[in-house]
Amino acid sequence: MEKADYDKIYEEIKRRGRDVLYSPKYHEIAGFTQHGNISVLRHCLSVAMLCVHIADVTGWKIDRTSLIRGALLHDYFLYDWHEDARWHRLHGFTHALRSMKNAQHDFGLNRVERNMIFSHMFPLNLTHLPLYKESWILCIADKVCSSIETTKYRK
Ligand SMILES: [Fe+2]
Ligand SMILES: [Fe+2]
Repeated sequence: MEKADYDKIYEEIKRRGRDVLYSPKYHEIAGFTQHGNISVLRHCLSVAMLCVHIADVTGWKIDRTSLIRGALLHDYFLYDWHEDARWHRLHGFTHALRSMKNAQHDFGLNRVERNMIFSHMFPLNLTHLPLYKESWILCIADKVCSSIETTKYRK
């Protein structure tokens, strides 16, 4: 991706996702590790960037504000999943619902954003189906970023 395109996407994320991005509560996720040495905040920003890039490449008619808000909040589970705690042992299966509930509580979500967050682990959670183009884009972008973070940025 060209630097100019990268900057343009970042500006759009800041504009459309400002209520989330400028909330001190949201920045708590900077304190939690996602993969390797990548924080949950950095992961969510990378996923949001890739989501917008995919939307641009496909040329699909997309609700871009929902795409960005859903991507920024998709891992808003607010705990350290690496810690050995019984209640989040099934993190892979449970964090999507928890993130959706937290995001709904703190920021309010529309139906597209709710489905994006709820279904982003598909096909791990076969009962949580992506119903919108925005949900499919998030599902793909999350897997791409997670794979890169896990293999390239190991501790
Ligand atoms: Fe996730
Ligand atoms: Fe994720």
